This record gives sequence, structure tokens and C-alpha cells, in this order.
Amino acid sequence: MRIGQYEIKNRIFLAPMAGITDQPFRRLCSQLGAGLTFSEMMSTNPDVWHTEKSRLRLAHHEEIGINAVQIAGSDPTEMASAAKVNVEYGAEIIDINMGCPAKKVNKKMAGSALLREPDTVARILDAVVNAVDVPVTLKIRTGWDPENRNCLEIAKIAEQSGVQALTIHGRTRSCLFNGNAEYDSIKAVKQAVSIPIIANGDIDSAEKAKQVLEYTQADAVMIGRGSYGRPWIFKEIGDFLEEGNLRSSLSIDDKCGYMLKHIEDLYQFYGEEKGYRIARKHVGWYVEQLVSDSHFKRTFNALDSTQEQLRALKDFINSIR
Ligand SMILES: Cc1cc2nc3c(=O)[nH]c(=O)nc-3n(C[C@H](O)[C@H](O)[C@H](O)COP(=O)(O)O)c2cc1C
Repeated sequence: MRIGQYEIKNRIFLAPMAGITDQPFRRLCSQLGAGLTFSEMMSTNPDVWHTEKSRLRLAHHEEIGINAVQIAGSDPTEMASAAKVNVEYGAEIIDINMGCPAKKVNKKMAGSALLREPDTVARILDAVVNAVDVPVTLKIRTGWDPENRNCLEIAKIAEQSGVQALTIHGRTRSCLFNGNAEYDSIKAVKQAVSIPIIANGDIDSAEKAKQVLEYTQADAVMIGRGSYGRPWIFKEIGDFLEEGNLRSSLSIDDKCGYMLKHIEDLYQFYGEEKGYRIARKHVGWYVEQLVSDSHFKRTFNALDSTQEQLRALKDFINSIR
């Protein structure tokens, strides 16, 4: 599929996830077959651009491939300036977040709260598309609540504004993460507009990815939580779509190798103090994927240095090989 001038290498994307999709994780998922990965969202407030958090979020690496950077905000002029600054810093695609349900974000009428204001959506999209030369993409939910599913209206606005691809998470804002994602709305949008549509929500296996692609006719799928502790899901989906092969071609050894490399990259990227804290959640997820029952998670979470963690992780790997 294409997004603007870019030919994307496949139709399996990593979702933007604050606190998860940092540079090391995006790199690993790209290596393991994600066709496109999105940064954690960047605030449009210039006061925070020079904080340590923003610096880390902006850090790119060539192994990630095309650098899609997500911005969130509600003021068209601020959004346009944020888009420009991010392009100066190396963004090759600007993705706009209108899907985030967080109260902190919605209170500022940003994220999914914008779905209640189609006129503001149009003004933001026009301003951002006109401000930058790179493709602009949009990520939404299906609407504010089940009584107000207006993703079709928003998709048409996006298409008219020159947005080059639209991701839809198959839940409304009021659904938060409850219940199951629904794909009828995504299918309806795909039929109604001609820009590429990326289907998102609850895709956690190769079979589910294929089902959603076939049902919605979307151009790509986007995986969020399904990649927790399982960055090889992109390879699994790719192998299944291309060859119908459901058996993972990666051994436990391969998977442990990726986990170890990921954790070492996290230490290097965040440094000692932050590194061991951030490693905890990822190791917890990896352990859930690799062994059915383990006390290791609790032991690991009690360690408070990268050195101790690394030693424990290597022992754990030796014990399950
Ligand atoms: C921890 C977490 C952080 C997220 N952060 C963002 C974000 O920064 N921007 C965004 O557009 N969506 C964000 N999302 C939503 C995901 O991109 C995705 O739409 C949602 O998780 C549904 O996909 P999934 O079922 O594959 O996880 C986040 C989700 C989670 C779980």
C-alpha cells in the first residue's frame, strides 16, 4: 500500500502507544516485520518540546524505516506549528491523534473529544495538511459513543482535507477499551472513501488479522496490545498472510534473543535510572508469552538495577531453554 509518496513494505502496522512504542520497541517491531510504526504521541504545546520526555520521544533511528510521528492537540494553528517542527526534526509522516480517550487529553478537547466537533476536525486537518509537505494521516475511534458513531462523516472530512490514510479503532470513546472492537463501521468507511484505511482494535493473532482484512477490506491492520511481549506477532501475521503458515518460524531461543536485545536497548536508550523501571513491564509481558506459569516476574520486579536485572534475565533464559 502507499501513503502519499511512500510505498509501505507490508500491511501490518504497529499502533502508537504512549509509554510503549519508544524507539527501541519500534526498531524491534520493524525488524520483526512491522511495515510501519508510529511514535508515542507528541504534545503540541511548545513549552514541553524541550523536556527530556519529548527529546526521547522524538529520537529516531534509521532501522525504524519511515518515521511516522503522532501529534495530539486541539488548536489548528498550534497543531500546524507542531507538525512543522516535527518535520524539521525528521518526521516523514505526521499522524494526528483523534482517538485517545484519556480524560487529561479530552479535557483540552483533544484526542477523541474532537470527534464531537467535526468543524474543528476540518480546521485542524486543513491547517496541518497545508503546513507540511509530508503525508498527514489521522487516527480516530468510530465516534464519541454508540449513539454518535460519526466515523463516516469524519472520514469524508479527512479525505477532503487531503489526509492520506485513516486508522480506525473499532470502538467509540465511551467504550474505552471495554467489550469487543467492531469492524462493521470500519468496513462501511472503507466502502465510502478512497483513501487507505487501517483497521485497528483487538487484533492479536495472525488469523484475526486475516479475518479483519478480509471482512473490512481495509488496506492494512494496526496492532497495539497484541504486540506486548510479542514483537514477533508482525512476522507471524506476515508469514500467515503470505504463505498460510500458522506455525511460528521462531524458536524459544530466537524469542529469548529478541527479548534480551530489547531490554539491553532499553537500558542504553533510557540510561540506568529509567532503564530498569521501563524494562519491568516489558519483561513481565515477555514472561507471560514464554512460560505458562512463572514466579520470575515477581522476583524480577524486586530488582532495582540494570545489572541485577540482566543477570536474572540470563538465568531465566537458561532455565527455559
Ligand atoms: C498503553 C496504551 C497507550 C496508547 N497510546 C496511544 C497514543 O499515544 N496514541 C494513539 O493514537 N493511540 C494510543 N493508544 C491506542 C492504540 O493505538 C490502539 O488504538 C488501541 O490500543 C486498540 O488497538 P489494540 O486492540 O490492538 O491494542 C494507546 C493504547 C494503549 C493500550
